[in-house]
Amino acid sequence: MLYSPIKFRNIELQNRWVMSPMCMYSAIEGMPNDFHLVHYGSRAQGGTGLLIAEATGVVPEGRITNGCTGIWNDEQAESFRRIVDFVHQHSKSKIGIQLAHAGRKASTWNGKQISLEEGWQTVAPSPIPYMEGERIPHELSVEEINGLVQKFKEAAQRAVNAGFDVIEIHAAHGYLLHQFLSPLSNNRTDEYGGSFENRCRFLLEVVEAVNEVLDDNHPLFVRISATEYAENGWDLDDSVKLAQLLKEKKVDLVDVSSGGNIHGARISVFDGYQVPFAAKIRKEAGIATGAVGLITEVKQAEEILQKGDADLIFVAREILRNPYLAIKGALETHEECFFPKQYERAKK
Ligand code: FNR
Repeated sequence: MLYSPIKFRNIELQNRWVMSPMCMYSAIEGMPNDFHLVHYGSRAQGGTGLLIAEATGVVPEGRITNGCTGIWNDEQAESFRRIVDFVHQHSKSKIGIQLAHAGRKASTWNGKQISLEEGWQTVAPSPIPYMEGERIPHELSVEEINGLVQKFKEAAQRAVNAGFDVIEIHAAHGYLLHQFLSPLSNNRTDEYGGSFENRCRFLLEVVEAVNEVLDDNHPLFVRISATEYAENGWDLDDSVKLAQLLKEKKVDLVDVSSGGNIHGARISVFDGYQVPFAAKIRKEAGIATGAVGLITEVKQAEEILQKGDADLIFVAREILRNPYLAIKGALETHEECFFPKQYERAKK
């Protein structure tokens, strides 16, 4: 199954390998550059079914760091276009972008909050910092939340204009949308906090707004943290319920990660540790899922697909080590995969 195509809306992926979104902290003023062209270009030449460009800020304050990419202006979208065009012209890969807002986890470098002078004031559902000693984030007003919904929509429109095939909304890892979902980081008493429905409202509004600028040629994915490994926190049952709502809102796939919202949460990490979350969500919400987390080998990936645990295999660190992961796996298993025509002599 790993090398069988799959369709989301009208977009067909040549295989199930996905380059998981990974911040490269190498942009200036949010602009991707030559590094990003080679970085994404080489994974496309490596036969990857879908590349998802790193967490990209929908507003400047939504970036994790000053080195994160952004798509809050047209100039940034133009710089992305060069990468997207390369991928489309020189491979069979599709390319998506992860639209993000880091909320209270913004304005950092190397995982540490940076000063107001070097960075900026962070925002969150409630004035609760991620780590002790950090600045208190500004509690977003309803008007500001509405404004951010628009910013996600505008960013999605720019991404479509730049030629991206897939949009992924980042609602995982303790960033702004996840902060709203969790009762541990959201203690609002208005329509964006309190009940499960209220905590999901912001994400669902973003999904709806983004979907307004997408057509049958642009599938929508959402990355979530299936659990935050904390007592009374967001958990797997919440994720199943959310996935059902996302399905109703025409989300095509839930990309299932975990953690990131609670500093110091204990996580036991092992090969494929997040796959059971993807499996349960796929089964119980009836929506396509992506599995991610310590998946490094063809056999392991194939088993996940065969068992019906997920539809796509997202790979992060292994594809940094090996951009030709998909091609290499195909050669080993005698499966069909894109191969750069310039490289024909290496095929045998
Ligand atoms: C990440 N990860 C990540 N996730 C995400 O949703 N958006 C992002 O921008 C990033 N950035 C990022 C940078 C780097 C350098 C790494 C290694 C990871 C998480 C990543 O997508 C993936 O979920 C995890 O790394 C687990 O998968 P692997 O590495 O075990 O295949």
